[in-house]
Amino acid sequence: MTQILKVAMPKGRIYKKAAELFRKAGIEVPLDVDDSRKLIVHLPEVGMEFILAKPVDVPIYVEHGVADIGIVGKDVLIEENRAVYELLDLGIARCRMSVIGLPDWKPGIQQRVATKYPNVASQYFREQGQQVEVIKLNGSIELAPMIGLADRIVDMVETGETLRENGLVEMETLFGITSRLIANRVSYRMKNEEIQQLCDQLQRVIPEPT
Ligand code: PRP
Repeated sequence: MTQILKVAMPKGRIYKKAAELFRKAGIEVPLDVDDSRKLIVHLPEVGMEFILAKPVDVPIYVEHGVADIGIVGKDVLIEENRAVYELLDLGIARCRMSVIGLPDWKPGIQQRVATKYPNVASQYFREQGQQVEVIKLNGSIELAPMIGLADRIVDMVETGETLRENGLVEMETLFGITSRLIANRVSYRMKNEEIQQLCDQLQRVIPEPT
């Protein structure tokens, strides 16, 4: 008997890209879930149940086993460092993690870096042998150097539009980011057939890097 897969799906802009990939793979899931305030979407016809989570929380649901699998950006996976299996690079929501600052930035004595990714940023600057104070923010990170909260930021760059609009420049790229399919370690064994079948279906439609 096939078992229902509980899938932690990121709310917001990655949802649509993930749903499009599922549909390309022949799994008819709704393209939009933002119209409703519902947080659990039952999809018995495709053997799934979507748990709509804040992207940063997806690995937490999966690690604790309340979701069998989940879709999450590599940025969050690295930052959160949770005990989950990373099964597939889905090749969607491609962007990069970068160090960003004002064009006239110069190394100073007291350096502050603002970011949504304090672990990523701390590790990077430690490896670079640079002493910085990391300030955790939760959004609109680009504001920090513009209003003097920090000298530089570590943040995601996709089109570069936010940087251009705010007169900031990309100084260094830390790593490339795409969305990943992750699995709970126990679910991976207990629901292996269902998870493997989904992986096979998705693998056939993963977009090539452009
Ligand atoms: C992300 C990121 C950048 C922007 C990059 O912000 O933090 O601000 O997108 O995209 P771009 O290069 O295409 O302009 P998000 O929209 O997630 O908002 P928030 O971080 O301010 O919450």
